[in-house]
Amino acid sequence: MRVIIRDTADEASRLAAQQIIDGFTPPGRLGVATGSTPLPVYRYLREAYARGEFTLHGSTAWALDEYVGIDEEHPERYRNVLLHELVGNGGTGLAADDLKTPDGKAEDPVKAARIYDELIGPGVDIQILGLGSNGHIGFNEPFDSLTSRTHVGLLTGTTRQDNARFFDGDIEQVPEYCVTQGLATIMTAKSVVLLAFGERKAEPVAHIVEGAVSQRWPGSILQLHDDVTVYLDESAASQLEFIDSFKKFHS
Ligand code: F6R
Repeated sequence: MRVIIRDTADEASRLAAQQIIDGFTPPGRLGVATGSTPLPVYRYLREAYARGEFTLHGSTAWALDEYVGIDEEHPERYRNVLLHELVGNGGTGLAADDLKTPDGKAEDPVKAARIYDELIGPGVDIQILGLGSNGHIGFNEPFDSLTSRTHVGLLTGTTRQDNARFFDGDIEQVPEYCVTQGLATIMTAKSVVLLAFGERKAEPVAHIVEGAVSQRWPGSILQLHDDVTVYLDESAASQLEFIDSFKKFHS
């Protein structure tokens, strides 16, 4: 794991975007996260597209997860969020049909999860990840299997509370179920870029980077992947025991 620490989330996001711009060869497969953390990276990718330095034209983008049962028009439906970030606002060259998301409205979400997993097949080239305050990646919550494939998951109270800010601050509006890539599915990515910013991420960051690989902190599975770069701001890095070494060797 390479751990890159910068003073601000914006500086770290710019570096992460540059890694993607330099490392992504079209036509390829980019794995994309939602939530607030990767939004500056998407802005940097759109700006690079506008300058002719990056394109997702002819490539596919693969969402990590989707809420089950969320209205098709809902702005927080992850498909809509990603269309807004990658196709709208000047875009990144990605065609709407080339954005792949699990079908949260399927009559049979279990089957929808299986179909999505089969479509991902050999995995994406670069996977962008955020990190939940409870250590989740995708919506693989604590104590989900470390070897799971794409599946229907139940969101914990912590995650629904964290995400209530996207739903008028009302936890009741946050769906309870999701379809999420499993940890084994995420691990098929050739390369992983994980971003975590702010004090609320300091504890999960310390566990997934320096703790044991365990179901309690699902992101810790990334310790078993040989190409992971973690981008942090100072706050998110603040509980790392080896912060000085990371700054010396990887920054
Ligand atoms: C989003 C996802 C989640 C988020 C995580 C952090 O597709 O799978 O793992 O990355 O909940 O969310 P933010 O970035 O809003 O703190």
